[in-house]
Amino acid sequence: MKAIIPAGGAGTRLRPITHTSAKQLVPVANKPILFYGLEAIAAAGIVDVGMIVGDTAEEIRAAVGDGERWGVRVTYLPQDAPRGLAHCVLIAGEFLGDDDFVMYLGDNLLGEGVSEFVRLFAEEKAAARILLAQVPDPQHFGVAELDGDGRVVRLVEKPKSPPSDLALVGVYLFDRTIHEAVRAIRPSWRDELEITDAIQWLIDQGHPVRSQVVTGYWKDTGQVDALLEGNRLVLESVEAAVEGKVDDESRLIGRVVVQPGAEVVRSTIRGPAIVGEGTRIVDSFIGPFTSIYYGCEIVRSAIEHTIVLEQSRIVDIPRIEDSLIGKQVEVCCTRSKPQAHRLVLGDHSRVDLV
Ligand code: TTP
Repeated sequence: MKAIIPAGGAGTRLRPITHTSAKQLVPVANKPILFYGLEAIAAAGIVDVGMIVGDTAEEIRAAVGDGERWGVRVTYLPQDAPRGLAHCVLIAGEFLGDDDFVMYLGDNLLGEGVSEFVRLFAEEKAAARILLAQVPDPQHFGVAELDGDGRVVRLVEKPKSPPSDLALVGVYLFDRTIHEAVRAIRPSWRDELEITDAIQWLIDQGHPVRSQVVTGYWKDTGQVDALLEGNRLVLESVEAAVEGKVDDESRLIGRVVVQPGAEVVRSTIRGPAIVGEGTRIVDSFIGPFTSIYYGCEIVRSAIEHTIVLEQSRIVDIPRIEDSLIGKQVEVCCTRSKPQAHRLVLGDHSRVDLV
């Protein structure tokens, strides 16, 4: 059993963060999203991992290296452009050979990991095994239609009238039959080789495609709200740990992680929340479901349900919530008159002012 992780893509829905960085490296609870997938793959006993990389190849390579940290062997497979998930399988053909494999999308979070999923695939052989999750808005996902025995009969991409509320999760298991499928299908209207079309081809050719519904959480973190939700879900399970400095005038309430070298001064942190290495929180309030990455400075501000990336400064902001703040960003408040908003924003930025 091998694994491939598509970690290229365009990341248009996470702009402007993705103008300069790989979305798979955005931290959730202060750990890059991609690392959760690598951990799940390693825990399932898989050693050979093919990492599909695009424009952000260098950044991914610098973060993941040869995979030794997880006890896996990473082979980098460059994709010339985001030509679709079935194209990822196509270019991984030589790496995969005739082996069964799991394809784990590099921006997905799956609470239960993949070990049980992999075990069931070995037990009940099929050409493919897919994971499904019940969602309230199936029209935004690939959706599966099942027969009475739970066998997949049809997959539809973002249907106007969904045949079920079962969305296709970004983790799939395949045997070598999929290589025939990805060679047989044609690009879709958006000019991508769609994995849903490849799986539909398997079904149409009479190959068994099995499914199971996830029991834990699943998040495709490709957009801001989903990313914040993923951060919330992961923070729900962190254990409190104070490795940095917290002064006597500060209060930590609930599960709070203060990473080494972090400093909390005259502040209140209500968990679950995490403060990264070397970050300083001064005269501030950090509310639940907030992850502040390393080297940041938060002064006289209140922040809740937010992800702040590395080395950013937030000073004199009375309240920030439901936000994603990039690397080395400065958010400050000027109190001198005339009061006005002074903005230096990158392309595709979004700001809500009151
Ligand atoms: P998506 O989120 O479906 O696509 P995207 O990254 O192009 O994002 P957007 O729709 O916002 O423009 O991709 C899921 C994962 O698969 C993600 O980790 C990127 C990766 N991917 C590839 O590596 N190659 C591809 O051709 C595609 C489509 C995705």
